[in-house]
Amino acid sequence: MGTGAADLAVPSAQELEQLEGLALELALEAGRLIVDERPDDLGVSHTKSTATDIVTVMDQRAQDLLRSRLHSARPQDGFLGEEEGGADTRSQITWVVDPIDGTVNYLYGIPSYAVSVAAVVGDPATAGAWRPVAGAVVNPVTAESFHARLSGGAWRRVASGPDEALRLGEPPELGQALVGTGFGYDARRRVWQGRVLAEVIGQVRDIRRIGSAALDLCAVAAGSLDCYFERGLNAWDMAAAWLVVTEAGGAVTGLAGAPPSGAMVVAGAPLLHGALERVLRAAVEAVGAEIG
Ligand code: IPD
Repeated sequence: MGTGAADLAVPSAQELEQLEGLALELALEAGRLIVDERPDDLGVSHTKSTATDIVTVMDQRAQDLLRSRLHSARPQDGFLGEEEGGADTRSQITWVVDPIDGTVNYLYGIPSYAVSVAAVVGDPATAGAWRPVAGAVVNPVTAESFHARLSGGAWRRVASGPDEALRLGEPPELGQALVGTGFGYDARRRVWQGRVLAEVIGQVRDIRRIGSAALDLCAVAAGSLDCYFERGLNAWDMAAAWLVVTEAGGAVTGLAGAPPSGAMVVAGAPLLHGALERVLRAAVEAVGAEIG
């Protein structure tokens, strides 16, 4: 894996358990904040620019909450969030957080958005030089939480119910697979993504575009999507959910043996992942790797 993410030292089993617990606790708290303080009429009664500003304010507030809680609990750790403001690490851990993944859904009141909190080792700003070791993804509207730690399994919890272990079963053939994907904010990238999708869509059961990469990946782990791919993800979109998928027995990579990165993320049960990766590689070759 690139500069050796697989070789990075990982925390002890006891510390991993603490990191997972902290990630879940804080993702739940930030989730309550973004739901409780979201104006009911966000998508309708504000001008578009005002509504977008409110979303930005809520993103920033949720990130500030996560950052200050993490700083109190583990002052030595680094921090990388979607909103402005990073911090270097003096420990082996950096927290990679997305305060609202699925921002457009949040704006429109579509109940598919999440808080994602991950503890990673390595440098999350460099593809292939980091890996998640613990994390949680919380959909605060459905009260569904996903959490995982390295070698600790992947888990789903609804509200305060019991944890249910996630384990990927035998996948369908690619032709019978329900495939999740997403599109970037930049129109040129979306056009490229649409052209790649046109190469893929005839070879699968159907496509879903749910609007939160973190929830898409967790849906793969939970079996409500068979597999997923997307170009253009940031570390914070995928960090926690990547681990949920791999701990459920799935594979998460880029193309042609590359690590998952902004260039491409492909996820699914190993056999299906391999089939999707081959189709995507051919699609990218047909369309051209350049976005234009
Ligand atoms: C976005 C969502 C979306 C994906 C985009 C991401 P954000 O994250 O995960 O599903 O298609 O690529 O940027 O901006 O809502 O945190």
